[in-house]
Amino acid sequence: MTGKVYLVGAGPGDPRLLTLRAAEVLGQCDVVLVDALVHRGVLEHVRAGAEILDVGKRGGHSCVPQEEIHRLLIEHARLGRTVVRLKGGDPFIFGRGGEEAEALEAAGIPWEVVPGVTSGIAAAAYAGIPLLHRRYASSVAFVTGHPQIGSACSAADIPLDGHAGADTVVVFMCGKTLASVARSLLRHGRSPSTPAAVIRSGTWRNQEVFLGTLEELAGLEGASPGSPVLAVIGAVAGLATKLHWFGAAPKPLRSACRHPTAGTRAQTGPAAAFDLGAGALEGSQHEGDALSLGADAPEGTRHQADALGRQAAVAFDGVAYADGLESPP
Ligand SMILES: C[S@@+](CC[C@H](N)C(=O)[O-])C[C@H]1O[C@@H](n2cnc3c(N)ncnc32)[C@H](O)[C@@H]1O
Repeated sequence: MTGKVYLVGAGPGDPRLLTLRAAEVLGQCDVVLVDALVHRGVLEHVRAGAEILDVGKRGGHSCVPQEEIHRLLIEHARLGRTVVRLKGGDPFIFGRGGEEAEALEAAGIPWEVVPGVTSGIAAAAYAGIPLLHRRYASSVAFVTGHPQIGSACSAADIPLDGHAGADTVVVFMCGKTLASVARSLLRHGRSPSTPAAVIRSGTWRNQEVFLGTLEELAGLEGASPGSPVLAVIGAVAGLATKLHWFGAAPKPLRSACRHPTAGTRAQTGPAAAFDLGAGALEGSQHEGDALSLGADAPEGTRHQADALGRQAAVAFDGVAYADGLESPP
């Protein structure tokens, strides 16, 4: 009998934001395919003995191609297994969950989606930014800052014309395109003095919030504030100054790019993703060799649920961290 695939949102980082339904499904599954930016604490809900497959980014670049993930989901379900596809945030918010649902539908595999708390909302909330507010914002747009596949990161690559009019603009996958995104919004009539926030590792223990203006954001050309980051642009971003409640107080936007180097991160312990992959990070361009995650999966890509929670090393963008997020968030 064919099994079933659950496309499950793991939330933005803080494992306490996992939904009850997600925990329930994890507790019943036979196999979990884990994506990027999933907090290790979430895996504590996985049924003991279930198989956990890492299908995320490795070393900052190679990852399992999307088609291979589709194949694995279908293959495991056809073996009669209950499969969880565990994705950061919400599966249908820039998470390629829609593509996976389409592939399952085409293959005749039963599936369900378990919505998750998207980083677009949660990172802002943990930064003290209400995306919608009676006095400041009555509309919000979630947009991608990732350039079109194959193009260079220039202002022309980030077409925000249709979104520039929203009171609040939340930009995902903008780590390398912050300036380009800002220029695009300025070109479409947003005021240079519009408040802008960049949130790095929102809801994680090492969350950082950088505040400034759209004009300052446009000046961050060529700078990368690390990842995962998203930007919140609009009057509400300015509220972070007085409403910040979690982690460090907001810092000036110009300091956003002075993040710790690979060498210093291990001491400070700021992990953004565990060594469970970062494949979905910064867009959809997958590169590198496919990893076989079948019976002959390479060492390190298959885990038993019990062992993984304790042993997973923390890594991000190819940097392994000795000190991870030992305790939430
Ligand atoms: C491929 S998208 C996946 C989004 C995810 N499905 C969600 O709903 O949050 C990855 C992007 O989400 C954003 N992101 C995810 N987790 C984040 C976090 N904890 N803090 C800030 N941004 C985050 C970043 O913009 C990152 O580049």
